Amino acid sequence: MSLVKWLDLTQCGDERGCLTVVESMKSIPFEIKRVYYLTKLSSDLPRGFHAHKELEQVAICLSGSCKVLLDNGQEKQWVVLDSSSKAIRIEPMVWHEMKDFSRDCVFLVLASEHYDEADYIRDYKKFIQSKGCA
Ligand code: TYD
Repeated sequence: MSLVKWLDLTQCGDERGCLTVVESMKSIPFEIKRVYYLTKLSSDLPRGFHAHKELEQVAICLSGSCKVLLDNGQEKQWVVLDSSSKAIRIEPMVWHEMKDFSRDCVFLVLASEHYDEADYIRDYKKFIQSKGCA
């Protein structure tokens, strides 16, 4: 299974602008229970640094760009998010970090569950141990 999974979003663009469609259980492979977004980000203040035990997420850079690290404990890859038509899956038990936010970056996240701090693994050593990679 590849670490980086892109999802294509349907775009209906014309001279009036660009309309992008996001649908639960269609382009997004789960029922969306929560939406959050990051704005006013700093290029020198990275975020993330955690994995989720159960939560499924999809991230889309609606405006601007940033870099996202995906790390499954065996393989790590940085990807660039710079298009509002490209979404990336952040699956359970994948350590992720985000950095190099452009000034106009708007980072949207669609999540399969409501917020639950107990679902987070914020310690990288514990993440590696729970993956059985230690
Ligand atoms: P966190 O998920 O750690 O942010 P990031 O991965 O972008 O660095 O969340 C930052 C803070 O916001 C943390 O105190 C938890 C809170 N939070 C909520 O209350 N609800 C939410 O849905 C999310 C995503 C975070």
